[in-house]
Amino acid sequence: MNILVLGSGGREHTFAYKIAQSEQCEKLYVAPGNAGTSEIAENISLSVTDFEAIKKTVLEKDIQMVVVGPEDPLVQGIYDFFQQDSALKNIKIIGPSKKGALLEGSKERAKEFMAMHNIPTAAYESFTKESVEAGKKFLESLKAPYVLKADGLAAGKGVLILEDLAEAKTELENMLTNEKFGDASKTVVIEEFLDGIELSVFVLTDGKNYKILPTAKDYKRIGEGDTGLNTGGMGAISPVPFADEALMQKIEERIVKPTINGLQEEKIEYKGFVFIGLIKVEDNPYVIEYNVRMGDPETEVVLPRIKSDLVELLSKVADEKLDEATLEIDERAATTVMTVSGGYPEAYEKGKEITGIDTIEDSIVFHAGTKEENGKVVTNGGRVIAITSFGEDYTKALKKSYQNVEKLHFDKMYYRKDLGKDLN
Ligand code: AMP
Ligand code: GLY
Repeated sequence: MNILVLGSGGREHTFAYKIAQSEQCEKLYVAPGNAGTSEIAENISLSVTDFEAIKKTVLEKDIQMVVVGPEDPLVQGIYDFFQQDSALKNIKIIGPSKKGALLEGSKERAKEFMAMHNIPTAAYESFTKESVEAGKKFLESLKAPYVLKADGLAAGKGVLILEDLAEAKTELENMLTNEKFGDASKTVVIEEFLDGIELSVFVLTDGKNYKILPTAKDYKRIGEGDTGLNTGGMGAISPVPFADEALMQKIEERIVKPTINGLQEEKIEYKGFVFIGLIKVEDNPYVIEYNVRMGDPETEVVLPRIKSDLVELLSKVADEKLDEATLEIDERAATTVMTVSGGYPEAYEKGKEITGIDTIEDSIVFHAGTKEENGKVVTNGGRVIAITSFGEDYTKALKKSYQNVEKLHFDKMYYRKDLGKDLN
C-alpha cells in the first residue's frame, strides 16, 4: 500500500525508515519531511495541520495509510476529519481521535482521566483566572518544590518547577492573569512534586488491545549533568536499565491496563501510540503525563528495536485486530545522540552545511532538522541529526554513537557527552 508519514523530525525519519523496510509498503511519502526522508521516500511540501491539503494529497497519490507523527494535527482532530469525510473514512489513520488526543492537549483532562480510572499520579487541583486566590492558598498547603502546569499545549515549555513559594504565587498569577503561555495557561494544574527517577513507556493500541513497546529514557536538558534549559530531547536510551520485570508488571497492571480500559469505558476511539511519562518513586510508578504520539528522540531508539513488520502492526491497529499481531523485540540496547545547532533551544542559525554523514558506519543516521540546498545537506532546525546505535548494553551502544557523532561536522554543532552517566 501507499503510505504517508506526517511530520519532519527525527521521529518521522525513523518511522519512514521502518516503514520502508516493509514488503507491504509500495510507495512512501513524508510531508513535509527532511533531507533524510527524501532519500527513502518522496517528500511533499505541506503543513501537517492543513487538513484540506492532506486530503488532496491522500486522494491524488492513492494513499491507504497515514501515520501522524506530531501532536498538533491529532489535538486539532485529524482522525475525526478523516472519519467524517466519505472519501477518507476507509483510509487507515494512525493516531487517536480528538477526544483521545485531549489526554495530551489538556493536562486537566489527563488528570481527570487518571482520577476517574484510579491511575496513580501526583495529587492536584486546577485553577483559572477566577480562582487565582484559591490557587495561592493551595500552594501554601503544599511543600516545595511547586509544580505549575499550563493546561494546554505549550511546546514543552508549560511546566514550571519552583523552589520558592512567593515565586510560585507570582508565576501562577502570570500564567492565569497575564496569560504567560497564551490560551494554554488559561487553566493551570498545580500538583504535588514527585521525587524519583523518570522513564517512558510506549503503548501501541487499537483502542481495546495493546502491545507494550520498548521503554526509553530521554535527556531533556541542554546542559551536561541535566542542567540548563529544556529541549525537545538531546538523546535517548532503550531499554531503561532499571525498568525490571517487577516494575514493568506494576506499570502494566496499575497504569497500562486501566488506561486502555478507561478509553473503552469512555468510548474514546484510539488507534495509535500512547506515550506514558512516568516517575518511579521508591518502587512505585506514577504517571506525570500522557502524550498521544511517539516521543522524539525516543522513537529513534524504540522503533529500531522492533523486529516485527511495522506496517503489519499498524494495519492491525487500524483494523482493531492488534491481538492477532506479534511483536518481536531486538534484545540489544539502542541509544541515540542528538546533535543540535549552537544556541538551541534559544536563538540559533540555520543553513550550515553538514559534512561527514557518508563516513558514518555501523550506526543509523536519522535526520531531524535538515534540508537539501544546491545538492548539499544543510541544517534547518535546532535539533539536526540523531545517531542511533545498537550494542549488547547501553554503554556499548553509546560508545558507537559517540564515535560516529565525532565524524559529523557543521558550524557550531553541539551535543551532550554525558548520556548514560546518570545510570552508572
Ligand atoms: P510534563 O510536560 O508534564 O512532562 O513535565 C515536564 C517535566 O517536569 C517532566 O518531565 C518532569 O521532569 C517534571 N515534572 C512534571 N510533573 C512533575 C511532578 N509532579 N513532580 C516532579 N516533577 C515533575
Ligand atoms: N522527548 C519528549 C517528547 O517527545 O515529548
